[in-house]
Amino acid sequence: MAKRTLLYPGSFDPPTLGHYDIMKRGLKLADRVIVGVHGGSLSKRHWFSPEERIDLFESYFSPEESAKIELCVYDGLTADLAIEKGAQGILRGLRTASDFEFEFSMAAMNKHLAPGVETIFIRTDENLAHISSSLSKDVLRYRNVPGMVSELVANKIRERLEELGS
Ligand code: COA
Repeated sequence: MAKRTLLYPGSFDPPTLGHYDIMKRGLKLADRVIVGVHGGSLSKRHWFSPEERIDLFESYFSPEESAKIELCVYDGLTADLAIEKGAQGILRGLRTASDFEFEFSMAAMNKHLAPGVETIFIRTDENLAHISSSLSKDVLRYRNVPGMVSELVANKIRERLEELGS
């Protein structure tokens, strides 16, 4: 039987426990998940290089998960990467109703660009729905709060804050 592949794209600057949760649940639906770390975007200035973001995401995985995950950096369209990788679906997490509008337009555009690729939404665990990469960076600037990102990622955020002199 053909292998089922999902592409999980994002900026992941840095990957949070919410991203990891979506990725783990995507793995239950697919034989393989490709995490696509988008190199740059018009609207976001990143704290971590794409390669650092890959290493940080990889640090969440167990050896069993790693065997079914591929990570890559890309700079073009997500739809083109999905086609290139032979993915049947694009995986995205939905946290709140406000995510929905943006995600709905993106899914429609990706369908336009790659009609054979379906977007699959997973509702973010309600205990993780308030987490985002920027809020995690903001909170860790002032207080050591667990449960948003892994300890390793939290340390990297603190290191970066020191480098930035914040
Ligand atoms: N748990 C926790 N946080 C989550 C989350 C979850 N399940 N899902 C999303 N987020 C947060 C992220 O932390 C991030 O927060 P931030 O804004 O504070 O940094 C935000 O939601 C979105 O980040 P992410 O999931 O990494 O995705 P993104 O919206 O940055 O990614 C791309 C967008 C890269 C997928 C999109 O811009 C894209 O496809 N670009 C390529 C060019 C292209 O194809 N354009 C046409 C698109 S139709």
